[in-house]
Amino acid sequence: MIVTTAQLFKHAYGKYAVGAYNINNAEQAMGLFRGCIQSQAPFIIQISKGARKYTDKKMLEAIIRAADEIFPDAIFAVHLDHGDEETCYDCIKSGFYSSVMIDASHDPFEKNVAITKRVVDAAHAKGISVEAELGMLGGVEEDIKVEEGNACLTDPAEAEAFVKQTGCDCLAAAIGTSHGAFKFKGKQSLHFDVLQKIKARLPGFPLVMHGSSSVPQEEVARINAAGGQIKNSMGVDINEYLPAAKLGVTKINIDTDGRLVWTRVHREFFRDKPAEFDFRPPGKIFIDEYAKFIASRNDKLGSTGQIPDLRKSLGK
Ligand code: G3H
Ligand code: 13P
Ligand code: ZN
Repeated sequence: MIVTTAQLFKHAYGKYAVGAYNINNAEQAMGLFRGCIQSQAPFIIQISKGARKYTDKKMLEAIIRAADEIFPDAIFAVHLDHGDEETCYDCIKSGFYSSVMIDASHDPFEKNVAITKRVVDAAHAKGISVEAELGMLGGVEEDIKVEEGNACLTDPAEAEAFVKQTGCDCLAAAIGTSHGAFKFKGKQSLHFDVLQKIKARLPGFPLVMHGSSSVPQEEVARINAAGGQIKNSMGVDINEYLPAAKLGVTKINIDTDGRLVWTRVHREFFRDKPAEFDFRPPGKIFIDEYAKFIASRNDKLGSTGQIPDLRKSLGK
């Protein structure tokens, strides 16, 4: 069942975080739905601009509608990840998305406010909620690469002003993470101090953590043992998800970890079966492994087992 992102946030806020997982194809969708049904966890499917271009945006919509039929007990929202203004309007117009993200975080504050406000007005007119971003994460985001030196944490006072001026429904705050597999150099930790200050200024307001993959080291080791070359990778400590959720982080974005599962499965499969050329056997393994991975992350987000209570609160 597709619900609004606002409904998911209302149920989760301050108690647990909803996992927001990116999909690009049918195998990812199957693993994601299976994992979330196994966990009895609500979730958000995220579609990036790159994913919309990979096959065709209509293909992804059809996959999600089919998955909704195959897994009638699933409760989820559909979200545009890192949209620009034009893509946001396209998604709002389509009537398929529960929420959109307008990412104008690379623009100066006033321009970010102006763009976000325009998208908020268009989205709210159709009952769609809007995620905006303030502050800058390091790493690669769509086709924009932010050097570590230019990444900056969200300023709590600016966050309060930004939310008031734009009317956005949730805010992606930069609290020390970055996109991709190389998040930290030294000791890894989220900036809980910044989070606490934002929460004090915006009580009850849902925050979003991007760049939340944990980059499991055993996954990377298996990839490298099967011919990969991923060096000096590091991710977020999965035991920090729930403490962040208690401080208002209601949506936690995970994409890179799924790519690592895919890479490990396929590298090992073709290393061990060099004469194989059917994509379905490794595809099946990937779906199973991704479902297991998703269930393990839902456990850490606190979203496992929330479906029955959510269903009750939705009156469904
Ligand atoms: O933050 C970016 C997400 O991981 C999506 O990545 O733009 O390569 O689809 P993508
Ligand atoms: P990761 O690269 O850490 O998976 O972050 C994904 C993300 O933030 C998608 O918006
Ligand atoms: Zn992101």
